[in-house]
Amino acid sequence: MDTDTRTEPAPENADPAEVGKFEALAARWWDPSSEFRPLHEINPLRLDWIDAHVGVEGKAVLDVGCGGGILAESMAGRGAAVTGIDLAEKALRVARLHSLESGIEVRYRKVAAEALAEEMPGAFDIVTCMEMLEHVPDPESTITACARLARPGGWVFFSTINRNAKAFLLAIVGAEYVLKMLPRGTHEYDRFIRPSELAAGARRAGLQLVDTIGMSYGPISRKYRLERGKVDVNYLIACRRPQ
Ligand SMILES: C[S@@+](CC[C@H](N)C(=O)[O-])C[C@H]1O[C@@H](n2cnc3c(N)ncnc32)[C@H](O)[C@@H]1O
Repeated sequence: MDTDTRTEPAPENADPAEVGKFEALAARWWDPSSEFRPLHEINPLRLDWIDAHVGVEGKAVLDVGCGGGILAESMAGRGAAVTGIDLAEKALRVARLHSLESGIEVRYRKVAAEALAEEMPGAFDIVTCMEMLEHVPDPESTITACARLARPGGWVFFSTINRNAKAFLLAIVGAEYVLKMLPRGTHEYDRFIRPSELAAGARRAGLQLVDTIGMSYGPISRKYRLERGKVDVNYLIACRRPQ
């Protein structure tokens, strides 16, 4: 009889409280009017931006911190062979169910980026890691893993939130307390990352910075848009692993 009742230890670069927040909300991941509404609304923008840089059709793509699979499924819908990884078991369950319903195939795995980088270095044409770095204890370790997972010449895309007074006001006070777009406690200010810090981390991981773009939310229009140079709150960066 198997009497081993130990639970798997959390990987070193994961905060169980952060992962737990997403586990608790997972059932509503695909409800576009839920706490995940911002991810649904920004998805067409980021998908088009990634696709314009590299063209996802026919590519092997890894989505790190994929959650319920909004971006992963949309890239698969454009013809990419997508693997999505996350540590929130419930989010992955929702992602798998949604993929069955939509008929858009995505391979989902519960594995940390660092562990997958040991297992499959250089295996992907494109690695995406969106809205995730600000939830991990050591973002540089995730950045390094993403860089290792991309093949030479491959692309790595990150998005996160800048760290300054405006980002605190808009991304925490505005989004969580005033507009109530996100549950209180979704973000911790200290975990926000300046573009210069992300760019330096990417360079240390051996990546070349190709593009940076800001994403802003109009509280009156209630719409997101990508805006060059406007990286003071949300932003995305595109990098390449040299050949
Ligand atoms: C805000 S959601 C973003 C989901 C998806 N990337 C998107 O943009 O649509 C953050 C995701 O990061 C995941 N996450 C947090 N820490 C993680 C870690 N150490 N390893 C993998 N995923 C993690 C959470 O479980 C959650 O699914």
